[in-house]
Amino acid sequence: MCGIVGIIGNKNAGYKILQGLKDLEYRGYDSAGIATISKDELQIKKSVGKIAALEDAFLNAPLKGSIGIGHTRWATHGVPSINNAHPHVDCTGKIAVVHNGIIENFVSIRKLLIKEGHRFISESDTEVLAHLIEKFYNGNIERAVKEALMLVKGTYAIAVVCAQEPDKIIIARQQSPLVIGIIKKGSYIVASDVTPISKLTDRVIYISDNEMAILSSSGHHIVKISDLSRDVVKKIERIDWELEDSEKGRYKHFMLKEINEQPKIVKDIIFSHVIKKKGSVKFGGLESIWKNDEKDISGSTGIDYLLNASRIIIFGCGTSWHSGLIGEYAIENLAGLPVEVEYASEARYRNLCITKNDMVFAISQSGETADTLMAIKEAKRKGAVTFGLVNVVGSTIAREVSGGIYLHAGPEIGVASTKAFTGQVIILALMAFLLGRHKGAISLDKGKRIIKALEKIPEQMQNIINNDGPVKRLANRLAKYSNFLYLGRTYNFPVALEGALKLKEISYIHAEGYPAAEMKHGPIALIDKNMPVVVVATDTEDEIYEKIISNIREIKSRKGIVVAVASEGNKSIKDIVDETIYIPRTEDFLMPVLSVIPLQLLAYHIAVKKGCNVDKPRNLAKSVTVE
Ligand code: M6R
Repeated sequence: MCGIVGIIGNKNAGYKILQGLKDLEYRGYDSAGIATISKDELQIKKSVGKIAALEDAFLNAPLKGSIGIGHTRWATHGVPSINNAHPHVDCTGKIAVVHNGIIENFVSIRKLLIKEGHRFISESDTEVLAHLIEKFYNGNIERAVKEALMLVKGTYAIAVVCAQEPDKIIIARQQSPLVIGIIKKGSYIVASDVTPISKLTDRVIYISDNEMAILSSSGHHIVKISDLSRDVVKKIERIDWELEDSEKGRYKHFMLKEINEQPKIVKDIIFSHVIKKKGSVKFGGLESIWKNDEKDISGSTGIDYLLNASRIIIFGCGTSWHSGLIGEYAIENLAGLPVEVEYASEARYRNLCITKNDMVFAISQSGETADTLMAIKEAKRKGAVTFGLVNVVGSTIAREVSGGIYLHAGPEIGVASTKAFTGQVIILALMAFLLGRHKGAISLDKGKRIIKALEKIPEQMQNIINNDGPVKRLANRLAKYSNFLYLGRTYNFPVALEGALKLKEISYIHAEGYPAAEMKHGPIALIDKNMPVVVVATDTEDEIYEKIISNIREIKSRKGIVVAVASEGNKSIKDIVDETIYIPRTEDFLMPVLSVIPLQLLAYHIAVKKGCNVDKPRNLAKSVTVE
């Protein structure tokens, strides 16, 4: 979604901002713009469509100045156009604003400002901020920003520059992320996430809700928006991402790079958590719990909370919801604990009967998904203890929960989530394993056997990735079809959902995932010779396997094209399906990290064959920060 970059203290500010905006392209956008201040005047350039257009305009006539702000816009209020693109300016042309989020009461504010004589040129909600700041400006920009923000309702991360105070960037945040990167005293980059920052510095300050920062050549100063006299002391933190983590390297697409990173990420997760001797695992992030910003001194660990909860409720959206479903099956099977998985967007508005005895576990790659964040807040309001499973360190969700676990998967740039999914699944599997050990449902011997299986997983993943050729050939054959069905049972049902989501996101082919047994309750009506059905049939339990085979026969009797993802050694399945992709076997609850890989690769190759924009599919945003 929208992205913000601001620079102060660099004589090539405009160019650096342009580079920063390119680093934010992965979030999804449809227009972009930059404002710098040179000789006490604002200089502005905007473009619709790709940043390349802005770059062309920039190369023809660079924006001068050592201070500026930039923005990538993902349209919410008004079509993508030059007028609607940020930065927005006031009537005097002296104040420029970029904004992520939504100003909910912009219609009434706009009416009022028009009555007072302000002239609007866009349909954007953000433009009211520029005019409101103008209205309150009397020589002190931070005070004017504060007065303006006191009147708006909604969510925002903003950056403001004023040509009359050419040595200051003002930033402020309410429910939309903002990070300050400290290059050196008096030289800063601000951005809506750390990706553009990591190229210039690894020292960052995360801005929290109701905070404003004044950045100038003499240093930075952070205060409460509601009370500018209240200084806020913030910790300077280190980003643990390397520069190359956010670059494509030798890969054609970020998605392919990220698929290839999976064995290493899963290996790091496994080896940093297993305790071989004890046939178990440990999670440092669940050792101490924070409630209302205070450490829980009851001595209870996160694991105690999970074991004693009346229910574990998992929240997530999209791919993170799919990994939650796998977590549900694993925790129920291995530890016998009650789990429910909810779409965060629904949970928030349903009267979900959450009590203080429930434990909420929120899953989010970005840690910024507005639906998930709001569901967490609602659960907290109802008294539940909340944990997070998040990739982006320091993100809003990571800071909102009482405890949790980081994936440490590095930046995921491809809009279609891959490495975050397998990282989430392996952590949830380890958590289920740990809970099973605590409950006594998994003996020491069994624990050691599971660890042996875990140790083999990275190599098994690598073998699947290395054996990409057959999947690519299959993709070439199937790319012409317009509809796909994905089926699986038990742990492979969420994998089927994930496979279908990957395909529709990046190739724009309509795809649905179903539990295999549900096919006869409706989707079977769709089956004909033009319907490829990907059946994830790695199950070995006789009862389930036999049922999946019956489903396959039902599809074949209706002339559907069946692609089976099967376990190595299952020779007989080849005779009844059209195509088979073999993958190695492991414990049932670990199978998804293997079975999902051919589905990721299939979606990837189909999208490439169709000439789609794999990393930045149309209409999608990497980090969905609006509801
Ligand atoms: O950052 P989050 O994990 O909270 O994001 C949730 C979804 O928006 C995300 O998984 C989305 O569905 C991906 N594009 C899936 O590939």
